Amino acid sequence: MCGIVGYVGRKDAESVLTVGLQKLEYRGYDSAGIALLVKNNIIVRKRAGKIHELINSLAESPLPKSTIGIAHTRWATHGGVCDTNAHPHLSQRGIFAVVHNGIIDNYSYLREMLRQQGYSFSSETDTEVIANLLEYNYLREGELIEALVKTVKQLEGSFALAILFRDDPDLIIGVRKDSPLVVGLGEEENILASDPVAILPHTKRVVYLDDGEIAFVRQNSVEFYDFQGKPIEKEAKILDYTEEDAEKGPYPHFMLKEIYEQPKVLSTNIERYVRSLKPVLLRDLNLRKLLLNKTRIIIEAAGTSYHAGLVGKYLLETYAEIPTEVEYSSEFSYRKLATDSRTLVVAISQSGETADTIDGLRYAKKHGLEVLAIVNRPESTIARESDYVIYTNAGIEVGVASTKAYVAQVQVLTLLALELAHVKGFLTEDELEGMMRHMEALPKKVERVLALDAHIGHIAERIYKTTNVMFLGRGINYPTALEGALKLKEVSYIHAIGYAAGEMKHGPLALVDNALPVVVINPRSSAYELTVSSTHEVVSRGGKVISVITEGDRRMAELSTHTIYVPEVPEFLTPIITIVPLQLLAYYAAVLRGVDPDKPRNLAKSVTVR
Ligand code: F6R
Repeated sequence: MCGIVGYVGRKDAESVLTVGLQKLEYRGYDSAGIALLVKNNIIVRKRAGKIHELINSLAESPLPKSTIGIAHTRWATHGGVCDTNAHPHLSQRGIFAVVHNGIIDNYSYLREMLRQQGYSFSSETDTEVIANLLEYNYLREGELIEALVKTVKQLEGSFALAILFRDDPDLIIGVRKDSPLVVGLGEEENILASDPVAILPHTKRVVYLDDGEIAFVRQNSVEFYDFQGKPIEKEAKILDYTEEDAEKGPYPHFMLKEIYEQPKVLSTNIERYVRSLKPVLLRDLNLRKLLLNKTRIIIEAAGTSYHAGLVGKYLLETYAEIPTEVEYSSEFSYRKLATDSRTLVVAISQSGETADTIDGLRYAKKHGLEVLAIVNRPESTIARESDYVIYTNAGIEVGVASTKAYVAQVQVLTLLALELAHVKGFLTEDELEGMMRHMEALPKKVERVLALDAHIGHIAERIYKTTNVMFLGRGINYPTALEGALKLKEVSYIHAIGYAAGEMKHGPLALVDNALPVVVINPRSSAYELTVSSTHEVVSRGGKVISVITEGDRRMAELSTHTIYVPEVPEFLTPIITIVPLQLLAYYAAVLRGVDPDKPRNLAKSVTVR
């Protein structure tokens, strides 16, 4: 949600920064801008629209060469999408340029205070307030670090900042509070960014800023301070990604690449979390003790991660017999909790930076509850602030629509539920081993679903002009219906809604007519017969059924206008095998409608606002 990049070194800053912005474009893509320091002057160029608008403008009328600068790709919060509201924002006297990710809650008050001191504003953003406030404090304090300390104390809200200072040609400043920021340590160059993906082409040595920290980044050194202005020591880490992880490779879109990476992701988690046909997550004795001591679980998550949580509930209750609730993070933190110390909160997040989910985990901790995070990105805020962490190991997910991260979340929740069930004595060793044999066969079966790519593309051709699609599932595949609908609507803009199949007759059946495509997810499972009945109800009202069913299922095929056959798997693995064709259906519908599935309108990956 807004991407920040800053560079100081020996290379051409403009090209480093624009390449960096392209890597961060998934974080926001409604406008972009760059500021370079040239002979003690800050020069700014910014454009509404995707990053190529900025790049075209720079090609048409180049900026002077520089080896230091900052840049930003925006997801608008305060102020509409236009050149003026795009970042960077210059302070009134041109002493500072600021790019910002986050929201300043008290910006109206600060703006008014600065107006009274003679400042005027050209944009509607909260960020311009930061630039002017810093300048105001600097002109009064005289010392940069003191001005920064004073400024961050006056700002309420969340902010990751990169700042360019007119009077020091070898300095970019990074500031972090509640929004991520990382410094890459290179050879005679250093780089600052919201996400290591922008740093990977330059170096793998990084330092993650924590909340309440400031970095002074120079060509040959980096110094860190706390918000009191006291120098602090920070440890460098080596990134565990390759540059290719953040590249599209031969695929036209990241979404397709990431859908295709799912067998590999499943295999990685099998390698890491299954040994000799046993899940080994609870070999961590602290985690085992934690889970055995709890009598109730509350999962808090957002969007796709919330849907993974719903599958998790089904598995944890069915196999481990532990009562589990699932809540949207954005609701969880705003209600009174009726819990006790035997309640475990599980926060699920791909990015580990979703503001609502971070709020949820902090709210839980404030109430004395322990938090287990199921997170994809190491070093993320959620990973660092939770009491226990299980990583989902899906690698970097760039496409805004989550695909491989979802499958990895569901897989990890499956392993956790089954292992807990075994430890509690609800599954015998033989039963568990049998289930793990199926888990080990899963990556190959998902490959077989991917081979249906062209067939699913043809089905997309039949529905992409429609305005509504309904998704139905029951039991463990009710969340699949919700997730299938979310994927379709967010990338293709076709209105899609997911229902529990059994709820149809209580209202939604009124929507069914011969123009409505209804996707029925009904692999062989305990919900099969009842879902067949719901399908009959749809078909007899003229609904056109697209079914996701088990290979060889003639009964469902006869009721369907289009069928997508998936390989047979036991019920506990059906949510993984059935979501893959729905991801492809959404992808192709988007492409056919001329929408870039990697950057759906109004959205951004990593939602760091509330
Ligand atoms: C949808 C999607 C979002 C995210 C949600 C939570 O495809 O990606 O709904 O799932 O914003 O994000 P994380 O998992 O990063 O907390």
